[in-house]
Amino acid sequence: MMAIHEERGADGSSVKGWPYTDFATGWYQIGYSSEFKPGDIKPAKWLGQDLVIWRSESGKLSVMDAYCPHMGAHLGHVGQFGGKVCGESIACPWHGWRWDAEGKNVEIPYMKGETVNKRIDVKHAREIDGIVILWFDSAGAPPNYEWPGIPYLGDRNNYYAIDATVDGPHRVKPQFPFENSADPHHFPYVHGSGVDAEFTDYIVEGALIRNTMNMLFGAGKPRTWMTPNGPVEGTIDNFCWGTSLGVARFNIEGRVCVHLTFVTPIDAEQSVFFSTVTHTKDEGEDGDVPVGIAKKMMDAQHVQIRHDFHIWQNMRYRVKPIFTGEDERIRYAFLRRHFDQFYPNPVYAENRLPEAAE
Ligand code: FES
Ligand SMILES: [Fe+2]
Repeated sequence: MMAIHEERGADGSSVKGWPYTDFATGWYQIGYSSEFKPGDIKPAKWLGQDLVIWRSESGKLSVMDAYCPHMGAHLGHVGQFGGKVCGESIACPWHGWRWDAEGKNVEIPYMKGETVNKRIDVKHAREIDGIVILWFDSAGAPPNYEWPGIPYLGDRNNYYAIDATVDGPHRVKPQFPFENSADPHHFPYVHGSGVDAEFTDYIVEGALIRNTMNMLFGAGKPRTWMTPNGPVEGTIDNFCWGTSLGVARFNIEGRVCVHLTFVTPIDAEQSVFFSTVTHTKDEGEDGDVPVGIAKKMMDAQHVQIRHDFHIWQNMRYRVKPIFTGEDERIRYAFLRRHFDQFYPNPVYAENRLPEAAE
């Protein structure tokens, strides 16, 4: 039988030409709160780390190094008899030692009254708006900012519950979806829009970078499902915390659709893509299930962003692209340099824009 091998870059990195030696510092999505019920234990691998994720009986979610300090069992692979949550601690499947949410050994069942001093490494994780995020820093530093949550516009109670699709592994880097916000000319080719987009300049606030895109939705068509009364000027507010938590917030005729496009590496080569979307309810709508244009818009976002994937999966990353025109030269270069600071081996010198081809 013929074996089919995926083509890989000569440097061993999954995306050919990728210049960075480790993952960027920042927050990364590793799931949704609803996936973890009290008493659940799950094995996971994110950002090159083997992990166990578990929720205590009282509801506290913990993300820890997977391996038991005793003899090294993976705490996330439970057995038929051992390996369970006991109140506020997790019991190892091998010899039943119990560890609390701080990683402290709280019980050795067959050595009554004795415990060991060795701790399990507990990771920095948060649950915000139903999203579970994990902090990564290649030097082990603790979080230096917090993710404020889904950037709802207006009353957050007026939005449908989040709708999520998850897929992978993909040969894609966390910052790729947000680079859409610097790339006005790909919209007609990749997303089928009638016109190029227009962007405002980026604003940087700590780890957050944002800009706004003005776009004529439904351009060139008498009407579409999104624009039943003909073309409409709308905006897309783009936000990105670190390199991975990229959000596009669509504002079209008073309707708001918020789309989170979070990419999280499993290891140096592959990532998982989390697509999370919510939308305002139309006036008079008080149900929980999206209907009408809201439903179509939410479904469309999950599909639209995936149109980029065949580009990202097969590209060679150009550290020095041929940038042309104001948008690319100023905005794309600015964005690349902004992302650069989060990596342990920045490749763009302080004052040098990557604007000329080699
Ligand atoms: S390996 Fe975990 S209790 Fe022995
Ligand atoms: Fe795109």
